Amino acid sequence: MSDRLEKRKIPRSSGSYRVEEDSFYDNCFDGYSLPVWFDCDTGVDDAIALLLLHQLECFNLLGISTVAGNVVLEKTSYNTLCVLELAGSDVPVYRGADRPLIRDQITAPEVHGTNGLGDVILPRPSLDLEKESAWDALHQAALDYKGELVLIAVGPLTNIGLALAKYRDLPRLLKRAVIMGGGARGGNTTPAAEFNVFADPEAAEILFSSGIPVTMCGLDMTMKACLTSEELEELGSLGSPQAEFARDCLQNTLRYSRSLGQPGVALHDPAAVLFAADDSIFESYPAWVRVETKGKRSYGKTVTDLFSDKKMPDRNHRVVIDVDRDKFKARLLYLMGRYGK
Ligand code: BDR
Ligand code: CA
Repeated sequence: MSDRLEKRKIPRSSGSYRVEEDSFYDNCFDGYSLPVWFDCDTGVDDAIALLLLHQLECFNLLGISTVAGNVVLEKTSYNTLCVLELAGSDVPVYRGADRPLIRDQITAPEVHGTNGLGDVILPRPSLDLEKESAWDALHQAALDYKGELVLIAVGPLTNIGLALAKYRDLPRLLKRAVIMGGGARGGNTTPAAEFNVFADPEAAEILFSSGIPVTMCGLDMTMKACLTSEELEELGSLGSPQAEFARDCLQNTLRYSRSLGQPGVALHDPAAVLFAADDSIFESYPAWVRVETKGKRSYGKTVTDLFSDKKMPDRNHRVVIDVDRDKFKARLLYLMGRYGK
């Protein structure tokens, strides 16, 4: 472990919600904080993921990069700064790509609202974006923490594709990537494709074929990491401005999800963050994964051998297919309950 890694004890008992199993914090890397880079397209569930990251002391969050996705880059960057300020964080934020590598840009205002935060308006932040680009800053952090940096990416993978194209040494500098994206069984933007991968399939394919071990927190699992309307009220009743914001910004997505017959709102990006912190409440398996970039109807599908013959060479990725929803909810409420204490 690098000398620069800070040894930190992880607090166990603050906040009104206690996680049921003691192993949650024990599993967080034996009391060491893990160097982490977060790439996001903030977005309502990205916003909740940012709030959780700030409370996860098992992580040493080195930097955050923004990318166009749920809304345009200007908004995802602005939203990221707003949410960080709300969290009380001053982690540096780097502007990334404003469009996908090859395909036409798509956004999802029907899910995230016109402003990307469910049309909740946060105060204008005093924080500002760094001058360096997302891909240069990510590469520098990977150099600084050679072989130890974990990338968590919860938006379209354009920044990562660009970083990998520019820096050929990046795959051996990163420990692994945990992404919210894809799905072994199906999609949410097309029948085949999940939003983050569909928004930039070529970039996602670059990551999956780069040699970096990728954990795919896709729709198979994240659709189960959901909160009902009553549970959102429970979240808001924690009473802090952060918890009330979380409840309020998810209302638009809740309405959208219900219009599709879903029982609640799926917290895709928070689920990926909690997986990276401790995988013990999740079910995942090794697999080969690649992205379809040619198919007329299958464009953006993450193709995996997990449910077939498991015979592809190079089965160095992981596909997460399930989560214990009650424990997911308990952890989310526990971490959000730490605000205002
Ligand atoms: C993913 O796409 C975005 O809408 C969310 O922020 C999440 O990262 C879900 O498909
Ligand atoms: Ca996202």
